[in-house]
Amino acid sequence: MKALVLAGGAGTRLRPITHTSAKQLVPVANKPVLFYGLESIAAAGITDVGMIVGDSADEIREAVGDGSALGLDVTYIRQEAPLGLAHAVLIARDYLGDADFVMYLGDNFIVGGITALVDNFRAERPDAQILLTKVSDPRAFGVAELGPDGRVRTLEEKPDVPRSDLALVGVYLFTPAVHDAVRAIRPSRRGELEITHAIQWLVDEGRDVRSTTISGYWKDTGNVTDMLEVNRSVLETVEPGCEGEVDADSEIIGRVRIDAGAKVASSRIVGPAVIGPGTLIEGSYVGPFTSVAGGCVIRDSEIEYSIVLRDSSVCGVGRVEASLIGRNVEVTPAPRHPSAHRLVLGDHSKVQISS
Ligand code: DAU
Repeated sequence: MKALVLAGGAGTRLRPITHTSAKQLVPVANKPVLFYGLESIAAAGITDVGMIVGDSADEIREAVGDGSALGLDVTYIRQEAPLGLAHAVLIARDYLGDADFVMYLGDNFIVGGITALVDNFRAERPDAQILLTKVSDPRAFGVAELGPDGRVRTLEEKPDVPRSDLALVGVYLFTPAVHDAVRAIRPSRRGELEITHAIQWLVDEGRDVRSTTISGYWKDTGNVTDMLEVNRSVLETVEPGCEGEVDADSEIIGRVRIDAGAKVASSRIVGPAVIGPGTLIEGSYVGPFTSVAGGCVIRDSEIEYSIVLRDSSVCGVGRVEASLIGRNVEVTPAPRHPSAHRLVLGDHSKVQISS
């Protein structure tokens, strides 16, 4: 079996942080979301990966290389424009040959990996197997409607009036039957060859299309609350360890990973948290569910339930919570305005004033 990983796309989607043009490289617990997908492919026993790349090809190549670090053999397939997920299958025809394959969208995160799913597909070999998950607003996804027997009946791409709350997750398993389907369909209203339509074509042809419904799914939609939440859940599983330096005046509590070259001085870190390579934490408190990437400085500050991307600094600012801080950002105190308290206090008064 092979894998087809989609890491192309226009890269122009508006995010709260445009730290990279490749949305597949958005970090979760200091690791690009794409890597979790690649690791779960490797864990499922697949080594041959065709990687679809577009405008951000250089960034993706720099991050993934030939895949050997992950135990994979990655072949890059250039897509000249983001013409759709089914278009990606079309241009990968030569690479895929007659192999069964898993198609994995590089900006999707599946909690718990795909091993059970791949094993099941290998054993049963339906023509196609899709993954579904319940979402609150299905209009942003492909949506599946199942018949009473649980079989896939209809599939629609981003419908205005969804027929169910079951969204298509970005992992699909195919036999070579899909190649006929992607050749048969025409571009959609948004001008893309939709994989959703190709799967509908298989259903209409009476082919065996099965679905599995999962929980524990995340996709980078640019939503900060979701991103902090997926970061939190992944941090709960990080392997604790210290490759950096922690001085005697510091305290490290719980599940904390401190990468090589990082320095912690006169600080307190309460996990789960990760501190990236070369980062300096000084005179600070880093609280649970915080990822600080490499090359950062956190000084005389407190930070909790937050993500700090690389080469940023947070200095002398008191407490920061539930925040997403991009790359090369400087967070500093505002200049002090002269301020004064004017008091008229009676005898024996007690007053607490925060300064
Ligand atoms: O994430 C799940 C959803 O993915 C499904 O529910 C939808 O049915 C499916 O169409 C897809 O929807 P999106 O519109 O969100 O897909 P997006 O354009 O974000 O592309 C998904 C990934 O595939 C992303 O990593 C970029 C890459 N891509 C996309 C296109 C259109 C390519 O590599 N080439 C392409 O032509």
